[in-house]
Amino acid sequence: MANVVVVGMQWGDEAKGKVVDYLAQSADYVVRYNGGNNAGHTVVVGDEVFKFHTVPVGVLNDGVTAVITDGVVLDPQVFVGELEGLASRGVTSEKIKISGNAHVIMPYHKALDSLEECSKGDKKIGTTGRGIGPCYADKMSRTGIRISEFVNPDVFGKRLAECLERKNAIITKIYGGDAFDFQQLYDEYSVYAAKIGPYVADTTTILHEASMECANIVFEGAHGSLLDIDHGTYPYATSSHCIAGGACIGTGVGPTMIDRVIGVAKAYQTRVGAGPMPTELMDETGDKIRERGKEYGTTTGRPRRCGWFDAVAARYTARINGTTAIALSLLDVLTTFDTVKICTHYEIDGVKVRDFPTDLGALERAVPVYEELPGWSEDISEIALFADLPAATRQYVARIAGLTETPVCMISVGRRRDQTIVIDSEMLHM
Ligand code: IMP
Ligand code: MG
Repeated sequence: MANVVVVGMQWGDEAKGKVVDYLAQSADYVVRYNGGNNAGHTVVVGDEVFKFHTVPVGVLNDGVTAVITDGVVLDPQVFVGELEGLASRGVTSEKIKISGNAHVIMPYHKALDSLEECSKGDKKIGTTGRGIGPCYADKMSRTGIRISEFVNPDVFGKRLAECLERKNAIITKIYGGDAFDFQQLYDEYSVYAAKIGPYVADTTTILHEASMECANIVFEGAHGSLLDIDHGTYPYATSSHCIAGGACIGTGVGPTMIDRVIGVAKAYQTRVGAGPMPTELMDETGDKIRERGKEYGTTTGRPRRCGWFDAVAARYTARINGTTAIALSLLDVLTTFDTVKICTHYEIDGVKVRDFPTDLGALERAVPVYEELPGWSEDISEIALFADLPAATRQYVARIAGLTETPVCMISVGRRRDQTIVIDSEMLHM
């Protein structure tokens, strides 16, 4: 096997968790490389539904070491809560490793996230409110608290005092908010720090050694490529490197050590939060996709914006990720539509545009141009072989592969592990 990155090709919520869970069955390591508990992965095993925000999905597999690396921001309260939740359901967390270089999300980051959003008026990003942006901002301005500092009581005390002085000044003087009390924060967070300490490890060395021993590593990208801080729809983006390259940045594993990139795309488009989405449907068809796809956020419960598959965006993300194959998810949701549409290009200011615009203003003015394909009415949720899918469904999948210039290696037709059609196991397996 080899090292595989699983990355979202849209605006997040592509059902990456299911693909990671599938690959985790033959993996030795599952690695989270970006983001924090703004992510939400749902995995269904038998009758059990697991929701993850911080802990890598691989924790459900006995032989897997679940790794949280340098590029992640970790909310200690949420992480400890997730561990306790898993323990109560009999899932052990012994094999979790956390990089000392990951950054800690503190309550003042969450406070600043909502204060900054409120101050933006109609320019709100629609963040998840988890303190992600402010925590990454501290990391970039080199004032953040790293996990290695957090788990050392003396160092944590000193760093927290320094940080609080600045943060309280901003919160009270700029936003008129309430200051945080040092002792209260220190006492509460020291309890989490003591619980997290045993998991801290040199994750870069662990992953290098694992690669030398030919272990199988799955890198689990959080969110989606279009939310990437550099290559996404900035400023309507998250604050981390969501694209496949983020796996190298966030872990310290070099680009030549990545063998494959599986891009996960939904059979249609969704977005949660603000920002342009050319194929958004504000009509009954959009509502029908939302209801059939249960498109409500795992993290915030917000209804997701829904629309037809955007092949302009997907071809762009196929390229920026170096996607070797696509895993197409939630295809069963499109069953019962008379016809299905794919956006093949945009029209911007009267001009035909095939490449995803990097200019936000242009994207905001983009009018989607669709190709209409026949729909299908047959229930496909229990079909196991590609050849057994209705002809119209196969045509739809083939068109997505053609327009994105990327083969489709796997299709998901339901939430259960076994509701998966593998088209090309060689592309998928490592
Ligand atoms: P933040 O990551 O909380 O700062 O939010 C920034 C934007 O990214 C908002 O539009 C969020 O809704 C969106 N976002 C962040 N994480 C996810 C995710 O995992 N799925 C979908 N949208 C997300
Ligand atoms: Mg999600």
